[in-house]
Amino acid sequence: MKDILQELETRRADARMGGGQKRIDAQHARGKLTARERVELLLDEGSFEEYDMFVTHRCTDFGMEKNRPAGDGVVTGWGTINGRMVYVFSQDFTVLGGSVSATHAMKICKIMDMAMQNGAPVIGINDSGGARIQEGVDSLAGYGEVFQRNIMASGVVPQISVIMGPCAGGAVYSPAMTDFIFMVKDSSYMFVTGPDVVKTVTNEQVTAEELGGAATHTRKSSVADAAFDNDVEALAEVRRLVDFLPLNNQQPAPRRPFFDDVDRVESSLDTLVPENPNTPYDMKELIQKIADEGDFYEIQEDFAKNIVTGFVRLEGQTVGIVANQPMVLAGVLDIDSARKAARFVRFCDCFGIPILTLVDVPGFLPGTSQEYNGVIKHGAKLLYAYGEATVPKVTVITRKSYGGAYVVMASKHLRADVNYAWPTAEIAVMGAKGATEIIHRSDLGDEAKIAAHAAEYEDRFANPFVAAERGFIDEVIQPRSTRKRVARAFAALRSKKQDMPWKKHDNIPL
Ligand code: HXC
Repeated sequence: MKDILQELETRRADARMGGGQKRIDAQHARGKLTARERVELLLDEGSFEEYDMFVTHRCTDFGMEKNRPAGDGVVTGWGTINGRMVYVFSQDFTVLGGSVSATHAMKICKIMDMAMQNGAPVIGINDSGGARIQEGVDSLAGYGEVFQRNIMASGVVPQISVIMGPCAGGAVYSPAMTDFIFMVKDSSYMFVTGPDVVKTVTNEQVTAEELGGAATHTRKSSVADAAFDNDVEALAEVRRLVDFLPLNNQQPAPRRPFFDDVDRVESSLDTLVPENPNTPYDMKELIQKIADEGDFYEIQEDFAKNIVTGFVRLEGQTVGIVANQPMVLAGVLDIDSARKAARFVRFCDCFGIPILTLVDVPGFLPGTSQEYNGVIKHGAKLLYAYGEATVPKVTVITRKSYGGAYVVMASKHLRADVNYAWPTAEIAVMGAKGATEIIHRSDLGDEAKIAAHAAEYEDRFANPFVAAERGFIDEVIQPRSTRKRVARAFAALRSKKQDMPWKKHDNIPL
């Protein structure tokens, strides 16, 4: 009996060593943690339950029968983050480069199936050389099985990908179908084809970092949602994100204890909007002053900064924020900001997270570049996302809300529940200057007349009251009391139920 117990411990110790000390040292020398160290940091101490530690591949080509490391290059199982269950897989680069064999993929599929059945998020830590070259199509089939599960799990349980090493070729498409992608600066990259292939096909000379590093994907492509300096920071931030999210689409987001006064009055908000309508101000100040303890978890901070997305809590309850940012491009809507916000709104709606929209938007960005690249379809994504969302929706217009952008930004007409405006709100088809130049074209050139017309237009529309008279704005509120008003609105909406007509699925303009 003792021998058998001893054998178990020996086998476990062997599996825990992955690809051996030399490769572990090489991993550390690159500033990367091992697969197991990452799992330990991600989960609550001592909470990890490992599965399939002794699984080995079945490949017999290329001498592989002589190299069958226990675990086959991926550590899988479940554990807790602040006491709440999550499933996790962590690819082990020290074992055959973390490459994906049929059995490696089977291990990932097993925990994805469990996650869906038991209603808990899946967190995938990616660090892999891609398809196990020795296995050929068996490896590709394994990827396909994972992809299919990503699709099945989408909108059922949150899926988070953390890229902590190479992620190339078709392998990128599993993270691409998850809800959030985090990367580590300087040690991770994602691309469909690497620099060598790019050079051969297009003659472009580019480094792996330039082509698919963290900066590229958080600033240019928007493939990734955030980038962090190292593994430790990235994993700590995943823990922070998970705290905002529900475990699955049947459960509400967790209600956290909060130590902030829900009636907190912020007098400084009364002067947040400058006198001059063309002077910018920082919308993030409003977000922080509304949030419990000023805590804001921003998503895609470095991309399309003219719109801000992320999570806060109000009375301990998670709320998704979408806010125009007057500091960047005057908060205009364009292709990038519409795509970014639409995806965020749809995530919130999938998982029952209420949405607070803060509006200061002069309209859509004009220009050939926008039109040629399809701003019509991309802008429609945000419109569509808001209109189909059935979660509680509260909107506050702080200043400009012009034209189509007024309707898009969670207006009453897209089934928003409570629409507030500050007294500084201006709800109109366009700004006074543009409007005057169109409806008084014959007076163009007569400055005095044009100024008088613009003043008349401003008097009529540069306020929230015309919309309030029609009930499109439920109430004009004092800026200083925004936190209280918004929190009360969401409290009143806690039992909201709203359905869509039956359909197989929708056809959002992609
Ligand atoms: C089998 C692999 C492997 C792979 C790496 N290794 N990638 N084994 N299949 N795909 C092994 C190496 O043989 C080596 O084994 C160990 O992992 C570490 O690799 P190194 O090359 O020494 O490491 P490094 O210099 O850091 O380079 C990492 C790398 C490189 C850039 C990832 O290994 C590489 O280019 N690998 C091939 C990548 C690739 O072309 N994959 C297929 C892509 S197509 P030892 O024993 O020496 O430690 C794809 C399709 C997916 O993935 C399709 C889905 C539908």
